[in-house]
Amino acid sequence: MKATAKAHTNIALIKYWGKRNESLILPMNNSLSLTLDGFYTTTSVEFREHLLEDHFLLNDHVVAGDEYYRVTRFLDLIRDFSSKPNLYAEVNSINKVPTAAGFASSASGFAALAAAATKALDLSVSNQELSRLTRQGSGSACRSIYGGFVEWEQGKQDDGSDSHAVQVAPANHWDVRVAAVVLSSKMKKVSSRDGMKRTVDTSPFYTSWVETIPNDLDQIKQGITDRDFEKVGRIAESNCLKMHATTLGAEPPFTYWHDTTLAVMHMVRDLRASGVPAYFTIDAGPNVKVLYLPENEETVQNTLRDVPGVTDVILSRSGQGVTYI
Ligand code: ADP
Ligand code: DP6
Ligand code: CO
Repeated sequence: MKATAKAHTNIALIKYWGKRNESLILPMNNSLSLTLDGFYTTTSVEFREHLLEDHFLLNDHVVAGDEYYRVTRFLDLIRDFSSKPNLYAEVNSINKVPTAAGFASSASGFAALAAAATKALDLSVSNQELSRLTRQGSGSACRSIYGGFVEWEQGKQDDGSDSHAVQVAPANHWDVRVAAVVLSSKMKKVSSRDGMKRTVDTSPFYTSWVETIPNDLDQIKQGITDRDFEKVGRIAESNCLKMHATTLGAEPPFTYWHDTTLAVMHMVRDLRASGVPAYFTIDAGPNVKVLYLPENEETVQNTLRDVPGVTDVILSRSGQGVTYI
């Protein structure tokens, strides 16, 4: 009853930002991401008969409190699914990604946990079922089951039975690269979960943001099919700015940006002005991800490293979906 799985993080090009059902994690809109090979989580799960509760080690430290309960509540779903209500587990997870800093550790973390836990219990689940289960750990995680470009279909059903990810194009469809510009690996003050809830509940900009999604999605999917980098980059960047704009209207207002976040955004625009196609996107955190093409790797990397306040630039290619070790 032991298994180990590896899952990569993903960067949303069309953002998931808001839930219509918080306990089932059903989103307000479809979202679309690129799975990244540079950041991942490896998780081992071992169910053992004599355990009285779950144990969770993250990066070799015992985890208690909210982060622990998020994992045990998720394992409860797996226990329900397998009709083994009293079987507890030792979970040992290593994040090759900063935790809770806007690098989508919840995506690689819950995708690896779901895959390892179902495998440990020998449950035969399709990738679609695995994506549906994973969604209930962290929404963005349902996209990390698949590699390449991935869409999370929000679904129409109230029970979430049609809310899961699908692959739009595999990793080898197109060699688009992503530079993760690290300014801070500190845990953010407002988690993704709390940030999106506050925005849905209080921001007057929220409904306008949601209204723009279907058109952004149509356009970006066309851009991916055509390998039209300018189109994909332009839509991803504006979608990101619209999402972050909603947080400024929340009550109390907040932003994930730091001053270096803005400096990097300006630098990306300068790169474009000098003829290098590069576009930014930002998840719920201060760090920036920059999309670029292979031929511009050196210029993009060197330019971003020189921005004052930038501590690291980590390069990623399009990554694969969940694997078992
Ligand atoms: P991020 O930008 O890193 O996704 P979130 O606020 O969405 O930030 O989620 C961070 C939370 O995800 C952590 O506080 C923890 O509860 C959970 N998490 C991160 N990594 C793991 C992991 N490897 N296994 C289980 N849960 C994890
Ligand atoms: C800005 O998936 O981390 O990165 O579902 O509450 O766990 P929960 O939130 P999470 O939110 C991600 C928000 C985002 C956009 C995205 O990844 O689509
Ligand atoms: Co997250």
